[in-house]
Amino acid sequence: MEKKLNIGVLVSGSGSNLQSIIDHIEKGLLDAEIKIVISNNPDAFALERAKKRHLKTMIIDHRGFESREAFDRTTASVLKENSVELVAMAGFMRLLSPVFLDAFPMRIMNIHPALLPSFPGLEAQKRALEYGVKFAGCTVHFADKDADSGPIIIQSVVPVFDDDTEETLAARILREEHKIYPQAIQYYAEGRIEIHGRKAHIKNVSRIEEKALHNPPIIF
Ligand code: GRF
Repeated sequence: MEKKLNIGVLVSGSGSNLQSIIDHIEKGLLDAEIKIVISNNPDAFALERAKKRHLKTMIIDHRGFESREAFDRTTASVLKENSVELVAMAGFMRLLSPVFLDAFPMRIMNIHPALLPSFPGLEAQKRALEYGVKFAGCTVHFADKDADSGPIIIQSVVPVFDDDTEETLAARILREEHKIYPQAIQYYAEGRIEIHGRKAHIKNVSRIEEKALHNPPIIF
């Protein structure tokens, strides 16, 4: 059997993306093994999800550290001690300092609930709705020194409807997050991601249909 990709998942909240990663592994769709789940938030529901699947968990509460760098140094060394090859930030509400980024260069992925580079940062779905965009979506990307800014691996686009609320839009986006995050990790596990400058290229993928979407529709 081929060696599985060792991943470490960083969480702060509900952990539905963690759940999707777990489910894809259990279904045999994702050739990865979760070596550890780390939460900076002791109350994160993600920890319950991990324990239910008998995964190793650790709470590293950032409030107990004197600086961002000190927290990052500890977290990165725990990940290394657990033989983690790829770090997946899944709703992890912390910015990473160079201490962390340099420990895992281009080996940290993040998921963001917007079509980057639009709406980086917090409350992306709410701001997209308020802005009045007709399409929204989500992005899996490598983490780099600025928040939500590294090479993009996969994006998924969803329509925005006039009667959407923040909740309905966020739910539509989240369903897509749960598909693209495991897929991005699987591409990595298969050694198919090449990075050229700020572009991530996935080798040997079929080309998607060249079809434009219009919202609202063009009626003539
Ligand atoms: C997701 O919307 C993700 O894109 C963002 O934080 C949310 C985390 O959700 N970074 P969950 O904890 O995975 O349910």
